Parts: sequence; structure tokens; C-alpha cells
Amino acid sequence: MATIIANGKTFQVPDGTRLVLALKDAGLDIMHRCGGHARCTTCRVTFNSGEPETYHPREKEKLESIGALGQFRLSCHILCEGTMDVNILQPFSASGLSDPGPRPSDEIPADE
Ligand code: FES
Repeated sequence: MATIIANGKTFQVPDGTRLVLALKDAGLDIMHRCGGHARCTTCRVTFNSGEPETYHPREKEKLESIGALGQFRLSCHILCEGTMDVNILQPFSASGLSDPGPRPSDEIPADE
């Protein structure tokens, strides 16, 4: 099991859970406007601790394309492991949008 700390909540999820789903299913206020395809960047988080050292290639490509590599991570392309202490940067409640986006699939999509 992985331990996730976010917005004052601490909870556990199975290893390998997509971080965006762990946060969403814990009732936390996170967006995922593209449905977890590394396109929208609304699922962005920063880490207080436990940041993965490696990037999914699609996450790295997206962050590089917008000049954000090193500034934040895409929770839809991170799998939970160990203890991760994260900050949600773009809460749905502050977005003014009608919904946070389609639910991401349980697995990171294969190459598209
Ligand atoms: S980039 Fe769109 S949900 Fe992660």
C-alpha cells in the first residue's frame, strides 16, 4: 500500500494506483479535464516529499512542451508508491467550470 498525504488528509491506496484517482476517490478537489491523457495539465500537483524520480514519457513531453518541467507534475501519469505528500494546484472548486472532467481510466493509457 502507498500512503498519500494531501490537503490535510492522509490515506492509503494500493501501490500502482494513478495518483489523480487516489486524490479524486479520497474526495479531494482535483481536476482532470482531459480524462488523464497528459493533455490538459489541470491535474497538476507539487510534491512536499515522495516525488518520483522518473517521468512517464508522455508526462515529460507535455511538461517540456509548455516549459513547465521541474515546476509541477501531472498526477494522471504518476503511480502511487511509498509515501507521497502532495499539493493540488488547480482545484475544481476554483475553476468556475461545470465539472472536473471525465474520469481517468484505472490504467495509464497505452501509447496514443
Ligand atoms: S493532464 Fe489532463 S488529467 Fe492529467
